[in-house]
Amino acid sequence: MREVEARNKLAKYSQQHLMQYYDSLDENGQAELLTQIENTDFEVLNSLNQQSVMESKGTITPLAAMEIDEIEANKNQFEEIGLQAIKAGTVGAVLLAGGMGTRLGSDAPKGVYDIGLTRPVFIFQRLIENLLEVVNRAGAWIPLYIMTSDKNHKATVSFFEQKEYFGYQKESVTFFMQDMAPASDYNGKVFLEEKGKISTSPNGNGGWYSSMHKWGVARKAAEQGVKWLNVFAVDNVLQRIADPCFIGAVLSRQCVSGAKVVRKNAPDEKVGSICLEDGKPSIVEYYDLTPELMDAKDEKGEAAYNFGVILNYLFHTESLDEIIKKQLPLHVVEKKIACLDEAGNQISPEKPNGYKYEQLVLDMIHELDSCLPFEVVRNREFAPIKNRTGIDSVESARELCKENGIIL
Ligand code: UTP
Repeated sequence: MREVEARNKLAKYSQQHLMQYYDSLDENGQAELLTQIENTDFEVLNSLNQQSVMESKGTITPLAAMEIDEIEANKNQFEEIGLQAIKAGTVGAVLLAGGMGTRLGSDAPKGVYDIGLTRPVFIFQRLIENLLEVVNRAGAWIPLYIMTSDKNHKATVSFFEQKEYFGYQKESVTFFMQDMAPASDYNGKVFLEEKGKISTSPNGNGGWYSSMHKWGVARKAAEQGVKWLNVFAVDNVLQRIADPCFIGAVLSRQCVSGAKVVRKNAPDEKVGSICLEDGKPSIVEYYDLTPELMDAKDEKGEAAYNFGVILNYLFHTESLDEIIKKQLPLHVVEKKIACLDEAGNQISPEKPNGYKYEQLVLDMIHELDSCLPFEVVRNREFAPIKNRTGIDSVESARELCKENGIIL
């Protein structure tokens, strides 16, 4: 892109300040900035002026979950169906590891964080150990696709190499990268990270399947016969991946997707609640859950929106292929964003200072015809690490690991 075109593009979005240091850059720096301006999608900034996601939501009604009693009663049958699907090579797993993990406060990818006390126990290691349990039971490798971002790709790949994939078969692991989006201040002015570099951040976990396509990974999976993808977050160190019982339940209920859910520990707990929206499965984020919805009761007299998602979903790939062209809603999320201050000095703020623009995997559920909410015992399967201390932290996850007999 030439300088004049870049200036025109920026003017269209009122972002001319991004070239304020252009003349002070060397030739290389100028060319890099022009390329970045060319490749940046400033349209996301429009979502700042649009109505909030909740205002645009339809009518919310309860969606009953398959609860633990029912799961236990059918466990053998579900597990058998799930194991058969795994053995037939139709199940793949997708690790969403493109996030920045800013709340944890480490510059390294979240998965390389060591939660061990007497020995190293890296977050990635915990996930692989859990997946290996299923691989050993099924006697078949499960293709594992790992999504990274521009910010952590190299570090993630070299960590897996260095640790020899924690015993996982290297040939069964494929990395791919997600897209980036610009980050802005509260007025929608995009930050500069350096004098010749626009501040960008991963564009949320909702773009995982389109990125799988972009990288040719979805095609490769289809060629290998994969029909189901179990998508999961990097930060839940207790989660069961490619859980045969979960897979079997979704298959036998003939749903095109499934969501692992836990009973919320408080009506306002910071997890999305599974529900129906205009009769289709959907998830209301915790910040969109109104007091009326928090108090609502179902026909059994229990809290109607009491099941929270834990970012562990199963998707049928044919359905994903159908919805891939649809634009998911953009969430404007307040975060701490490293940037240049007015004097041109680099700062790493201690408090949130602006917005990132993200698409979320949970919004995919609403695009699909059916979803089975599948209850899991929270203390056995839900130990998310978002923060260093307090709620959903390294500390709380360590306690839960110990409770489950994992030596740290
Ligand atoms: P979170 O929103 O909890 O993680 O993402 P984060 O953005 O890494 O953390 P903070 O808010 O900055 O502290 C949940 C899951 O989605 C992945 C994360 O890696 C995590 O597994 N994710 C998130 C992506 O893969 N890409 C993204 O752009 C955002």
